[in-house]
Amino acid sequence: MSETTSQTLDALFDAAMQASQNSYSPYSHFRVGAAILCEDGSIIIGANVENRSYGLTNCAERSAVFAAVSSGKRDFKAIAIATPDADYPVSPCGACRQVLSEFFPGSAPLQFGNNKNSRTTTTIAELFPFDALHELAR
Ligand code: THU
Repeated sequence: MSETTSQTLDALFDAAMQASQNSYSPYSHFRVGAAILCEDGSIIIGANVENRSYGLTNCAERSAVFAAVSSGKRDFKAIAIATPDADYPVSPCGACRQVLSEFFPGSAPLQFGNNKNSRTTTTIAELFPFDALHELAR
């Protein structure tokens, strides 16, 4: 797998920021956008989609994963998450960490930030240690 350059991560973060504009968040007023870089070079985006039955809310990261898988893509290289309404970089929730670990290699770069100048770069494995049970998938 080729290295994801910082320029590519910059472009991915821009796409995530762009995706946050599609957020449907009339309850929290907290927009989130995510952008996944697929192995084939394509970028798939997602936004958080809330519901008046609050627990049905889908986070941006999971929206992006489900959109990508639904369009036939399962090999992912990197993900960026943008939270423009926060004043610090907001990391993915626990549920999203589990879902991301289903498809991303542990070494995949994951970047989250509230703006271009306030970003944290880490990996899936760092965010979701002791990942297990991939062998159940057949
Ligand atoms: N949210 C995300 O979409 N991703 C995250 O990483 C954190 C939280 C959404 C869920 C809800 O719509 C809003 O942000 C506030 O929690």
